[in-house]
Amino acid sequence: MVGNSGNLIVTGGSGFIGSNLVRWLLKNTEYLVHNLDALTYAGNNDSLSDCVENDRYNFWNVDITNAPDIERVFDEVRPDKIMHLAAESHVDRSIDNPAAFIKTNVIGTYVLLENARRHFDSLTGDEKSGFRFLHVSTDEVYGSLGPTGLFNESTPYSPHSPYSASKAASDHLARAWHDTYNLPVLVTNCSNNYGPYQFPEKLIPVTIINAIAGNRIPVYGQGENVRDWLHVLDHCDAMYRVLSSGTVGHTYNIGGNNELRNIDLVRLICEILDVERPRGDGLVYSSQIEFVVDRPGHDLRYAIDASKISSELDWEPAYSCREGIQQTIEWYLSNEDWWKSILDGKYRLERQGVKQIFTGKL
Ligand code: NAD
Ligand code: DAU
Repeated sequence: MVGNSGNLIVTGGSGFIGSNLVRWLLKNTEYLVHNLDALTYAGNNDSLSDCVENDRYNFWNVDITNAPDIERVFDEVRPDKIMHLAAESHVDRSIDNPAAFIKTNVIGTYVLLENARRHFDSLTGDEKSGFRFLHVSTDEVYGSLGPTGLFNESTPYSPHSPYSASKAASDHLARAWHDTYNLPVLVTNCSNNYGPYQFPEKLIPVTIINAIAGNRIPVYGQGENVRDWLHVLDHCDAMYRVLSSGTVGHTYNIGGNNELRNIDLVRLICEILDVERPRGDGLVYSSQIEFVVDRPGHDLRYAIDASKISSELDWEPAYSCREGIQQTIEWYLSNEDWWKSILDGKYRLERQGVKQIFTGKL
């Protein structure tokens, strides 16, 4: 990858994808990387312990909904590029507490866009023509597919969860700031990521950790829901290609072409664990699988047509699903300190998203 230099802001750089992206950028480019993160429950600077000594890395502990703080950081950093990942990202939590999703995903994106616009308007020459704002989003904005078909960049939006609705709103804001103010915005919509440093509330780490702890492995409904899985480092490569070579104002769908039913993915993880860390009592991990009450509004199937990014930006995923899942399991087995310190906190693998308590507060 040809290196690029200047000041690059990553929002949400202490989260799962963000921390992998910060490391990827430090390795593959020459940018000064500025991580803006509020360190919510999902933010963890232990995920960047190998980056803190790098003199091209800066951490700013700021909340993207705090307009004065964001204004101050933009004035100090004077970014050349922005990669906006900070978000509330877990569907089940959005069912329990939608307010946090509206605040960060919608208002936070608005604050960033307005500050990016103010900053962009102050630029001239090459600085102005090179400025980019990449808005990182999800395939969930397109809603749910039946047994066939793929989401492409023209698929109408049809979000079903408070999470996906808040991301859809933020996508519309990002495009509106391009169309109305000529802010050089690009949008990506990606499928399910997996890999190291994913917070242990998402399906793959939940399965690994519950399995080796001897707990039940919860599969929602009958496990028939289908997701398309992409290794997080393939996503980092894709985001950077869109940032550096994508057409301004365009959207790029990103996917792994790796569709799996949840139950098949969970069984695959169990089979790999049976080899990597056998239970020791002669039983197999799949005996711990339990079908539990379904997620409200659970989307049946997501699948991505990634032909646009493939043909325009020459991007293809490098990881095969089996290889990527195997490596991810090995990472969780050899990094117990990382996830055990998270589980010492407020979250201990409890089921989320079934309470549906009304708060009505932002
Ligand atoms: P994550 O929940 O692991 O991390 C989110 C990060 O954002 C955390 O570090 C958190 O502290 C930070 N953050 C949250 N609210 C903030 C605020 N108000 N101000 C500043 N920082 C704040 O999320 P992730 O899975 O890494 O997802 C990152 C982005 O990628 C999100 O925008 C998500 O919608 C998108 N995405 C995720 C996936 C996936 O499979 N995980 C797939 C497609 C798109
Ligand atoms: O598609 C992209 C999206 O992928 C991202 O935008 C989201 O930020 C990310 O969280 C992810 O959303 P999902 O809802 O698909 O991911 P999750 O890991 O929560 O669930 C994956 C599937 O597994 C889903 O069908 C629900 C199911 N599931 C999940 C958990 C946590 C279970 O069956 N059991 C579980 O314990």
